[in-house]
Amino acid sequence: MNNPNKDQGDILIVDDVPENLQLLFTMLTEQGYEVRRVLNGKQALNAVRVEPPDLILLDIKMPDMDGYEVCQRLKADSKTQDIPVIFLSALNDAFDKVKAFEVGGIDYISKPFQLQEVIIRVENQLNLLRMQNKLKRKNHELEIINKELEAFSYTVSHDLRNHLNIINNITYLLNHKYGEKLDDVVQKYIQSLENESTRMGEIIEDLWRLSESKSNYLEMVLDSFNLSSMVEEIVSKLRQETDKKPQKFIIEPDIYVMGDQGLIKIALENLLDNANKFTAKTKEPCIEFGKLEKDAQTVYFVKDNGRGFDPKKADKLFTPFHRLHKDEEVAGEGIGLATVQRIIERHGGKIWYDAIPNQGATFYFTLQEMPDN
Ligand SMILES: Nc1ncnc2c1ncn2[C@@H]1O[C@H](COP(=O)(O)OP(=O)(O)O)[C@@H](O)[C@H]1O
Ligand SMILES: [Mg+2]
Repeated sequence: MNNPNKDQGDILIVDDVPENLQLLFTMLTEQGYEVRRVLNGKQALNAVRVEPPDLILLDIKMPDMDGYEVCQRLKADSKTQDIPVIFLSALNDAFDKVKAFEVGGIDYISKPFQLQEVIIRVENQLNLLRMQNKLKRKNHELEIINKELEAFSYTVSHDLRNHLNIINNITYLLNHKYGEKLDDVVQKYIQSLENESTRMGEIIEDLWRLSESKSNYLEMVLDSFNLSSMVEEIVSKLRQETDKKPQKFIIEPDIYVMGDQGLIKIALENLLDNANKFTAKTKEPCIEFGKLEKDAQTVYFVKDNGRGFDPKKADKLFTPFHRLHKDEEVAGEGIGLATVQRIIERHGGKIWYDAIPNQGATFYFTLQEMPDN
């Protein structure tokens, strides 16, 4: 059992029989572990409090406080409950395995001790512990990185927006105040400038919303409100923007929901904007908003009969900057659905889709957790 690379572990042995203590102590010290020894439950609890070990080997039959009770007390205290406990039991003790697990023991070793068995069981638990610690550290690192990234995109989009606003204002002034004095070529250039910076502004606005939708700077404000009216409002704005052809919208009236109005509005603007964009070339475009009941829960949907997509190729649909339609005619950066998903998830809901190429797409969402998944 020589394992020179083994990390050291700090082990506490609790046994009222000094010979047992000595035997285990020698065995484990020789393996390179830090080992502490105590003779009863009270001392054990004290030793753990002073310095929590990585692992406890705990005799069951002891006077005053038996091993079960020691274990129970350790598990009842949030500071010590994660320390793994391996019970030590003699064959002639009345050893209750079920109880040992019930009080929180993680394994047991029978006396008389066999060197190999003890080492393997100890090392198993310590390995588990090391892996858990590693995971915890990684999770913690990831959380920090995520927060930094969030703050980064929040700040970047905020700062870019301010500067871009200045450029926009100047371009506007140039165009509308001095445009007539400038020759045609310069006017054209200025027009391009204005178009490009408007487009850039939209991208920054989307980025800003993406970070805002996740950001914990902003508390959600929950209200009950008429989602159908909100959809009407968004649709009438969309109609003004898409002046090409009359779009058919079917909106189920008086659907009330509970949620953050600002965030839900962003979500629906994105879904309806997509439905509108991807039906631009459809002969008789029709966009529908409504609700249905599924598994005793209300599911809302935005349905269109536009270009659709192949659902088998859509696994990255909700990942920022992924687009299924790469063409130039449909503007976008692929941030919208990522934002929508974050908003729905912040409301404890889920979002999913149905789509058929050239026949249309439907996006479904809930606003609380679905019961059985
Ligand atoms: N209603 C829809 N019909 C067809 N494809 C859609 C629809 N909504 C979204 N998509 C696909 O998902 C992609 C990502 O959408 P989104 O995140 O809103 O980004 P963007 O609108 O900027 O392209 C779109 O580029 C498109 O390929
Ligand atoms: Mg979009």
